[in-house]
Amino acid sequence: MITTKNVAILVGSLRKESLNRKMAHALIALAPPSLKLEIVEIGNLPLFSQDFEAAPPATVSTFKQQVEAADAVLFITPEYNRSVPGVLKNAIDVGSRPYGQSAWNGKPGAVISVSPGAIGGFGANHHLRQSLVFLNVPAMTQPEAYIGNAGSLFDDNGAIASDATRDFMQKFLLAFEQWIERHSAR
Ligand SMILES: Cc1cc2nc3c(=O)[nH]c(=O)nc-3n(C[C@H](O)[C@H](O)[C@H](O)COP(=O)(O)O)c2cc1C
Repeated sequence: MITTKNVAILVGSLRKESLNRKMAHALIALAPPSLKLEIVEIGNLPLFSQDFEAAPPATVSTFKQQVEAADAVLFITPEYNRSVPGVLKNAIDVGSRPYGQSAWNGKPGAVISVSPGAIGGFGANHHLRQSLVFLNVPAMTQPEAYIGNAGSLFDDNGAIASDATRDFMQKFLLAFEQWIERHSAR
């Protein structure tokens, strides 16, 4: 029997025509039956303040509940100035507090960086992994996904136009399914 694993996708761009959001939608369509992928929106979150710990805004509580309800987390992010976009780092910080009540704790994770540039957002991908170590999110090691030259990757329907990249992303998802199985605390 196939047990479906619920994966929360965090997209590190708020741009309407975001390549990273296109990748998220492409992966939702490509996912095997054992994975249910869903985007958890981060654009409505307030900038983090430690005051939230005493009195969290409703958007913060809802966001944490959405992350907590997922079996795993998949980060799909651009690179901004060789690092993690502020909007994604903000969501990570929001979900991490109060201390000891982090929504991320123990969730298996994976990171995909997507960029029109040649090196595929490597810097953002690895800076993000640094936070995930502290947050106790075991982040999938292989395959790595630095998706470069993504400006022409998607067709008019938002599907991945390259057979090789589509094949690679399918393999990535199957590997992630196994990673979740192996690293799930439940
Ligand atoms: C503030 C800013 C900083 C950027 N820095 C980088 C960078 O360090 N490396 C890179 O590959 N692309 C960089 N870019 C270009 C982005 O990769 C490009 O805008 C990409 O399309 C953003 O992702 P999105 O399409 O999902 O919005 C940057 C873009 C912005 C707006």
